Amino acid sequence: MDRSATDRQDAHGAAVPAHELRERGARALWDNWTGASTVPSRALYPHQWSWDSAFIAIGLRHLSPLRAQLELETLLRAQWGDGRVPHIVFNDAVPLDAYFPSPDFWRSTTAGRAAGAPGDVQTSGIVQPPVHALAVWLVHRADPGLSGARSFLARLRPRLAAWHRYLLGARDAGGAGLAAVVHPWEQGMDNSPCWDAPLSRVEPADPAAFRRADLDHGAPEGRPTDLDYGRYVRLAAEYRDRRYADDEGPGAFAVEDPAFNALLITSEYALALIETELADEEPELLESAAERRGRADALTKTLVDRLWDPRRELFLCRDLRAPGRDGALVPERGVTGLIPLVLPGLGRDVAAGLMRTACGPHFGLDGPARLVPSYDLTGPAFDPQRYWRGPAWFNTNWLLEKGLRLYGDHPRADALRDALLEAAVTSGFAEYVDPYTAQGSGARGFGWTAALALDLLLDDGRSRRGGLLGEEVWP
Ligand code: SER
Repeated sequence: MDRSATDRQDAHGAAVPAHELRERGARALWDNWTGASTVPSRALYPHQWSWDSAFIAIGLRHLSPLRAQLELETLLRAQWGDGRVPHIVFNDAVPLDAYFPSPDFWRSTTAGRAAGAPGDVQTSGIVQPPVHALAVWLVHRADPGLSGARSFLARLRPRLAAWHRYLLGARDAGGAGLAAVVHPWEQGMDNSPCWDAPLSRVEPADPAAFRRADLDHGAPEGRPTDLDYGRYVRLAAEYRDRRYADDEGPGAFAVEDPAFNALLITSEYALALIETELADEEPELLESAAERRGRADALTKTLVDRLWDPRRELFLCRDLRAPGRDGALVPERGVTGLIPLVLPGLGRDVAAGLMRTACGPHFGLDGPARLVPSYDLTGPAFDPQRYWRGPAWFNTNWLLEKGLRLYGDHPRADALRDALLEAAVTSGFAEYVDPYTAQGSGARGFGWTAALALDLLLDDGRSRRGGLLGEEVWP
């Protein structure tokens, strides 16, 4: 049964019909639209964020394919000459003290000049997970006529290629082919317990040297601690002071992360589809597409070789700065380790192991959890309230819903989809929710929560059968 047509309950127990859910989701997205892009939240995150925009575009495509295209174009216009896509594109109409770290901290137009930062817009100097080629492809598919008329794929394809080249080249700090993140904000799960050990080697910045703006809007018990922030600031300032150069190797923090790399591999497949689509006009792109698919297959094997833990049946993070020739795996169970389920080339054993782990005591999908938590329910650092140390997030659960479908577990995927839609509406599109109760925390009317709920509600069924890219496109 397609539950999209059935009613859900709001926070007061009142029935919310599907059309009302669509209206509310659309309203949340329109409220966050700034004219050329979407903020994750007017108060807490008042600029454009990189992976947020990609997820937001995936939802927006159902309401306005044109706005979804503009969202991605605005982000990619701020790309640096070395190929990196910055994690924040600042809106210069927003006061400096509305968000920290602000443009005067990152100084992209000066400190980033050698790395090719644009001169006409201020950005951060770090990156976020590369969901963009996936988003560009899905947005194109929502309205191929409009996309063709606006040369959407032809204009963005070189930027996406440069972005992937940067990650697979300058960011291959471990030398095995995977991309490394050099700051927890790059991986996106800022205060995950997976970072506790790698971050413990970072000397925190002086707390008197900065003021956290996030606590003006978010409850302290739901946010990272001051100690975490001191370390985030130190790492970012040191990268800035190295002029955002990657050629002398990373600083004190360098991690190969499963979700970041799984999304990069997925986006490589998506970019191969984009190149194939454009090959009528540019036939040489066919060869590039074939190479890209081959690289994505090979990277999947590398991911399994380097990050799969057969005992835990989970992918782990590799801390490249830990003692040892190749660093060491971090023995924490984070949701990042489940996200490779979106990859088609994992092999049945690894995929089956991941599904067992998702449904077992650590992530509780078949047990007490309504939504998959960001961190091990039984782990010593588990906290159901604090940002990425336990709460369930909508983007990771949306990805897992796709992974379950890819491996044919439609009953569990259907149940997860229903739980996500229910939690989205009852929480007022919260930034994250308690994994047991689905009670919301953080920002409300949050961009990717509204967008991904709309996507689950309105998608045309193609992705339901084959995971993220549809069954006909996988190797
Ligand atoms: N997620 C970070 C923040 O909370 C930065 O990207 O501001």
